[in-house]
Amino acid sequence: MTNIKAIIFDAYGTLFDVNSAAEKCKDEIGSKWESFSNYWRTTQLEYTWLRSLMKRHKDFWKITEDSLDKSMKVFNINPNMKSQLLDLYKILSPYPEVKETLQLLKEKNYKLSILSNGTTSHLHELVSSNNLKIFDDIFSVEEVGIFKPDSKVYDIPVKKYKIEKHEVAFLSANTWDVSGGGNYGYNAIWVNRNNIVFDNLDYFPENQINNLKDLLDII
Ligand code: LAC
Repeated sequence: MTNIKAIIFDAYGTLFDVNSAAEKCKDEIGSKWESFSNYWRTTQLEYTWLRSLMKRHKDFWKITEDSLDKSMKVFNINPNMKSQLLDLYKILSPYPEVKETLQLLKEKNYKLSILSNGTTSHLHELVSSNNLKIFDDIFSVEEVGIFKPDSKVYDIPVKKYKIEKHEVAFLSANTWDVSGGGNYGYNAIWVNRNNIVFDNLDYFPENQINNLKDLLDII
């Protein structure tokens, strides 16, 4: 890849493992913990898309809570666990290779930032609780009041850095976010950790990697 001026990362699911909150409670939740966690995540994302379409924006933290409420009912989880799950969601674990990869990229002098649906304060908390204060900027959709994949979101770093769309390497493990960023004009790179199938949304990324460390081979 040439002429990349900024490397921009999605947060939830790409840098941070969204299943790690429920996983830390698997003794209490039991064997359904993973289905519950996937349902929670799917519901959370559906609420972001629906709220964008309905023009009824609510911040990502409130949506995380709303989707948790529904998921706990569906999976019959003790309501007393709600605050524990939310507290763990504030300090989700990063994937194992994240810190070292970021440090190596930083040494190469790339601008490194996050562009996420998350609120600014929750993104800062995730970064500091995991000792990952390596980013130049943390961009939240709250600046534009609508969720990904609205183009106003992908515009944020392009405007801030005064660079061209294709000068951004955008990394996401969320296929729909890769499609969103790619259709917008980013050089989108798909982090395909679990060898899954890509979307049919008129964009297919030129580059896909199995984990973030592989980025060092193509950048
Ligand atoms: C984010 C969502 C896509 O961090 O996970 O923006």
